[in-house]
Amino acid sequence: MVPPDILVPPHILALRAYEPGLSAEQVEQRFGLSRVVKLASNENPLGSSPRAMEAAQQAIRNMARYPDGGAALRDRLAERFHLKTGNVIAGAGSEGIMANVVRTFLCDEDEVLTTEAAFSGFQVLARGRGVAYRSVPYRDWRYDLPALAEATNERTKLIYLANPNNPTGTFFTREAFEEFHARVPERVLIILDEAYFEFAAGEPSYPDSMTYRFDNVITLRTFSKAYGLASARVGYGFAHENLISMLLKVKLPFEPSGVSAAAALGALDDYEFVQKTLENNTRGLAFLERELRGMGFEAAPSAANFVMVVFEREEQARQVFEQLLRRGVIVRPLKATGLPNCLRISVGTREENEICVEALKSVRAELEMDRYATTQ
Ligand SMILES: Cc1ncc(COP(=O)(O)O)c(C=O)c1O
Repeated sequence: MVPPDILVPPHILALRAYEPGLSAEQVEQRFGLSRVVKLASNENPLGSSPRAMEAAQQAIRNMARYPDGGAALRDRLAERFHLKTGNVIAGAGSEGIMANVVRTFLCDEDEVLTTEAAFSGFQVLARGRGVAYRSVPYRDWRYDLPALAEATNERTKLIYLANPNNPTGTFFTREAFEEFHARVPERVLIILDEAYFEFAAGEPSYPDSMTYRFDNVITLRTFSKAYGLASARVGYGFAHENLISMLLKVKLPFEPSGVSAAAALGALDDYEFVQKTLENNTRGLAFLERELRGMGFEAAPSAANFVMVVFEREEQARQVFEQLLRRGVIVRPLKATGLPNCLRISVGTREENEICVEALKSVRAELEMDRYATTQ
């Protein structure tokens, strides 16, 4: 076998494969537990939209046929958001569309620019393309938009912004975004990743990108979170039709799958499920933030369906993660994302959040963390 460093370019060799973390079943087996709570992947704790499941079941009957590449879903989304179908793309998760953006627009000499410890999916896609990857530090766990505008140079082709951001959960305001947009040259494309937009849309200063018609902004959204369809892999994007028509050239023609697109169409009409999801999230997020801060932990202010906990040292984050695991609570360590002293906790059901908080209290006592607790 020819060694990988001869077959594979250096920017691919330097990547690390995505580690999904342990499943609830694996943790149950490893520690002999009867109940495990998974709060690691920002999934919907209420499951999937019932209307989506019903629609998917119908679509399964037609699995022998190739799907329409998201055509019906694009039409419906255009109708919903008062756009033309030509402004809409559907794909295999918002990450699938992000992959198309990277493939369509980036040339070898281009640079991408984003924040420190950006969403890991974007990091992998951009680094895997082999272009220069630059980032600027957070400011109070928020995107430093003025610094990003300042860091834009003649090679910058693409700026990636997630709002709310994963993994910090913070969001930037309309005012901050408009100021930033005015400073960035029009030839620079901006990905506005709104995977968590449903959770933040109620914030009065949240810049819902559907209210903008900027020619260089590509909005990405997903059915994975608020609609509970993470496993179906279906997401969508909005942009100027000239950009969408380029993306359609490189998109795999049969993404999203027919079953996933049907599920998404069903989910779109399921206002009741989304409403329940948002109510559960608002309550759960407030509870987790209050309890975490009450224990003396630093919790970044979140507008999403998770909260990031900041420890003083990497060792503390590692120990808390491991001790929570032993108590049947799976959270997400953020070392691979670039924040080794942080953990991310997804909002669960009321019962799951309570189990998580009780486990954290017990870990905190065992590790005698009150001695080094940080305060906001
Ligand atoms: C900021 C952000 N963007 C995109 C995604 C990917 O979403 P999808 O499941 O639609 O690919 C995630 C998933 O966690 C995310 O956190």
